[in-house]
Amino acid sequence: MTEKALPRHVAIIMDGNGRWAKKHRIKIALGHRRGVETLRDIIRESSDIGIEVLTLYAFSTENWSRSPEEVEALMGLLLEFFISEIDELDEKNVCIRILGEKSALPLPQQEALMKAENRTKENTGLQLNIAINYGSRPEIIRAVKTIAEKVRQGKLDIDRIDESTMSEALYTAGQPDVDLLIRTSGEQRLSNFLLWQCAYAEFTFPTVLWPDFTLKEYHAALDDYMHRDRRFGGRKE
Ligand code: FPP
Repeated sequence: MTEKALPRHVAIIMDGNGRWAKKHRIKIALGHRRGVETLRDIIRESSDIGIEVLTLYAFSTENWSRSPEEVEALMGLLLEFFISEIDELDEKNVCIRILGEKSALPLPQQEALMKAENRTKENTGLQLNIAINYGSRPEIIRAVKTIAEKVRQGKLDIDRIDESTMSEALYTAGQPDVDLLIRTSGEQRLSNFLLWQCAYAEFTFPTVLWPDFTLKEYHAALDDYMHRDRRFGGRKE
């Protein structure tokens, strides 16, 4: 039997922090805090086993509609994460990229994110994408505007627009498409996450809530992926 390869690009919707907090009768903010611990383990493991790209959905364009208390808690955790983890991530040769519109974030968060991106931009290990104030439709609209502007300026011939023109105008420019999408907590939705990049992704929906998603579950998801038969619309010989 041929040895099946690990996914090059894993994307994760880290769902279930709220339900985990409810289950444990603690504040939602503490559920998110536990979620950060899980995320730390998954980043480390992805780097250690040689995943090329890991994309995590940390805050969507729709998450602003949550209570001010929860939004503040999430923003606080983000800042804390980038300040406390940056040394280790840099040491591990991790390259950080933020997907999403940073300008709507509080200034300290914007600064910390830009610092992290700048400091790690030459790193050649795990490519860690963190989606913050991210929505796939706004990302696609932004890409279309970039392409339209090039056409307007006469830098791009309309007949030369193809799939790679679009891929290169997205936040994930230069990266492979998603191979495996994991959404925890049993919900089976994409929630405006990487619509273009997931065109041929395999999906898995473990029922465990994100704070309870251990390395054992991560390996089970990777293993499941490695047993899938990916045909990309073709037919198996
Ligand atoms: C979904 O759980 C999770 C989120 C909306 C936020 C995920 C954020 C983190 C894990 C922490 C911040 C990120 C970084 C990079 C430090 P939910 O609250 O929607 O869960 P529920 O559906 O059970 O309510």
